[in-house]
Amino acid sequence: MENPSLILDLGCGIGEISLALARFFPNSRVIGLDRENRFIAENIRKYSDQKNLTFVHSDCYSLTFESNSIDLCYSRFLFQHLRTPDLAIAEIFRVLKPKGKIGIFDIDKKIDIIYPFPVHSKKFNTAEAFYKKLIRNDLYIGRKLISSE
Ligand SMILES: C[S@@+](CC[C@H](N)C(=O)[O-])C[C@H]1O[C@@H](n2cnc3c(N)ncnc32)[C@H](O)[C@@H]1O
Repeated sequence: MENPSLILDLGCGIGEISLALARFFPNSRVIGLDRENRFIAENIRKYSDQKNLTFVHSDCYSLTFESNSIDLCYSRFLFQHLRTPDLAIAEIFRVLKPKGKIGIFDIDKKIDIIYPFPVHSKKFNTAEAFYKKLIRNDLYIGRKLISSE
């Protein structure tokens, strides 16, 4: 994508992807958003030198941006945690400009291989059970996300 003016990193966590986006698009403004204030506060402190990067504390289901204001919305490893991903997608479409782009990168644990297998715990007798403890919502969100040009 050429010269996006406003980029949103949804569920930015510790801000690594937000920083990569801000470096890759030095002429764009990048906003990292997360519902955990501790990440946001730490990111603001940590990345204060990156002048085109800011962080906001918010929930992806109710974005505070105006409709048709975002050029690019990227999200890595957020959707596996969402109970109602369709609502988050609808909210992304609301804030996205008509020719804006969305990039969602997420997991599909069906093809995961764990080695060595976590046999030490009786609670986790399958890899799937192990991940279900970790990720409470959709372990297979990756294959449900559509892809297009
Ligand atoms: C696995 S981390 C991914 C962090 C980052 N995107 C990365 O790839 O390194 C998931 C992040 O999503 C955030 N999150 C979960 N539900 C959210 C929601 N409803 N709105 C905004 N952020 C949310 C969590 O606080 C967490 O920081």
